[in-house]
Amino acid sequence: MTATPRLAARPADEAGILAVVDDAFRDDRRDASEEIAIVRGTWAARDGASHVELVADDDGLVVAHALAAAGRIDGSPAPVAGVAPVCVAPSHQGQGLGTALMRALVSEARARPWSVLVLLGEPSFYGRVGFTPAGALGIHYAPAGRDSPHFLALALTRSGAPDHAAAPTRGTFSYCWEGG
Ligand SMILES: CC(C)(COP(=O)(O)OP(=O)(O)OC[C@H]1O[C@@H](n2cnc3c(N)ncnc32)[C@H](O)[C@@H]1OP(=O)(O)O)[C@@H](O)C(=O)NCCC(=O)NCCS
Repeated sequence: MTATPRLAARPADEAGILAVVDDAFRDDRRDASEEIAIVRGTWAARDGASHVELVADDDGLVVAHALAAAGRIDGSPAPVAGVAPVCVAPSHQGQGLGTALMRALVSEARARPWSVLVLLGEPSFYGRVGFTPAGALGIHYAPAGRDSPHFLALALTRSGAPDHAAAPTRGTFSYCWEGG
């Protein structure tokens, strides 16, 4: 594996990010418009302090992308961050890059004022980095249906007692791009 995760630079990486999202999610049956809309929506909704965005590049070309931004619980800002669809270019899949990107995202997330990461995805892939069904933490995502096995969460443990630990994290989650 030659590509390693780094923090994304804006706006320099934007075109490369949109290209890799399109490349990874497009197939014979569907385009990648839904995932591209989520990335663009997150870019539009986030603020400077409440997101993490990572890319990996190979010879100057973006080949992987991960993005997380603080969302809401029951409509109010909360220390629960939603991860946008993670992707690796088909040319670079199966080499450990997706797993490395998720590990780096979790590590960066621990430095943010967040208690939990959530996402909608394949339990067998995200389980590799510690995600388990979010329902067990009392977090639900209405579009997925209550207690969906695909809506996953990872509690972000740290040493010490961060100020945000008492903030509510249980309830119905919404991503930043879904509005208030
Ligand atoms: C899913 C994705 C991010 C994985 O990235 P990657 O760099 O290929 O993954 P890694 O090399 O780190 O890990 C590969 C492992 O993940 C598994 N895996 C890959 N895609 C998977 C998927 N969609 N569901 C479950 N497991 C998956 C592989 O079987 C492999 O398992 P193994 O090591 O036991 O053989 C990448 O394949 C991708 O971008 N896919 C298209 C976009 C997508 O579906 N993203 C969301 C995933 S829910």
